[in-house]
Amino acid sequence: MASKPVSLNTGPGGLSHVTLRHAAGVAKADIYLFGAHVTSWVAASGREMLYLSPTAHLDGTKAIRGGIPVCFPQFGKHGPLKQHGFARTATWRIEDEDAAMSSTTPTVTLAMSETPDTVASDWPFRFKAMLTFAILDDGNLSIKMAVENRDERVFDFSTALHSYFTVDNLDDSRVPGLSGLTYADNANAGAEEKDKEPFVSFGKEVDRLYYGAPDEIELASAHLKLMKTNYPDAVVWNCYKEKAAALSDLPDDGWLRYVCIEPARVREKAVVTPGATWAGRLILKETAS
Ligand code: BG6
Repeated sequence: MASKPVSLNTGPGGLSHVTLRHAAGVAKADIYLFGAHVTSWVAASGREMLYLSPTAHLDGTKAIRGGIPVCFPQFGKHGPLKQHGFARTATWRIEDEDAAMSSTTPTVTLAMSETPDTVASDWPFRFKAMLTFAILDDGNLSIKMAVENRDERVFDFSTALHSYFTVDNLDDSRVPGLSGLTYADNANAGAEEKDKEPFVSFGKEVDRLYYGAPDEIELASAHLKLMKTNYPDAVVWNCYKEKAAALSDLPDDGWLRYVCIEPARVREKAVVTPGATWAGRLILKETAS
């Protein structure tokens, strides 16, 4: 029997994940309900585009290291919540599960709303967040995020799609297109700098929040282009050797295998009035180069 476009499976740590499969090609993606977290995207060429740490916790005891963690309603330490907010350690639900599982196209929407824990937190609002994942006709991956304010109060949030991309050779990895932009350098206590280099390279720890980053960003050596909408900022991160040793869920050589480029909304938070919805989108595109 041909594989279904949408199926629900169990991962090695016992957690459920949705698998989306392209009807004709090899493109597919795995999305864990824990964190609404993409752990794998195989593009049309058959290449795995995302880096998932081989020592990532896949049992729900910790945010998954690698893939695409969803940072919400706080990016990093930019607010009172725990690092990167609560969404990446929450269990999301499949929206309209019966319809999703019988879909004839590889797409699924995961949703989460407030819980007693989030209501008791420093971000106590009623909300509905939705992430719609789709494998497009060309095998590329689309992620749409929507956050509806179901409270009586205005709220704001920061957010990022914390994408880890597989690189064959970190020394050859370059991110052009950010030259001239101002960034907050998290590797230097958040000091603001202007990028004067033609491209970002990774000969040391890189942890930068670029303000007003272009909507298309390339990681050419990884055959990848990001196309983002309504995420005005972008984080570029590689922890490098010394910090890797402190990450218990990253192997000692794991820092050589990934570069994070994260569409983000941080400098100007999203502000959502009661009844309104904020929306953003990321398309990850495999390129020939
Ligand atoms: C990046 C931050 O987005 O996430 C880094 O800029 C941080 O400062 C990294 O180290 C990983 O965070 P965590 O919480 O997943 O270890």
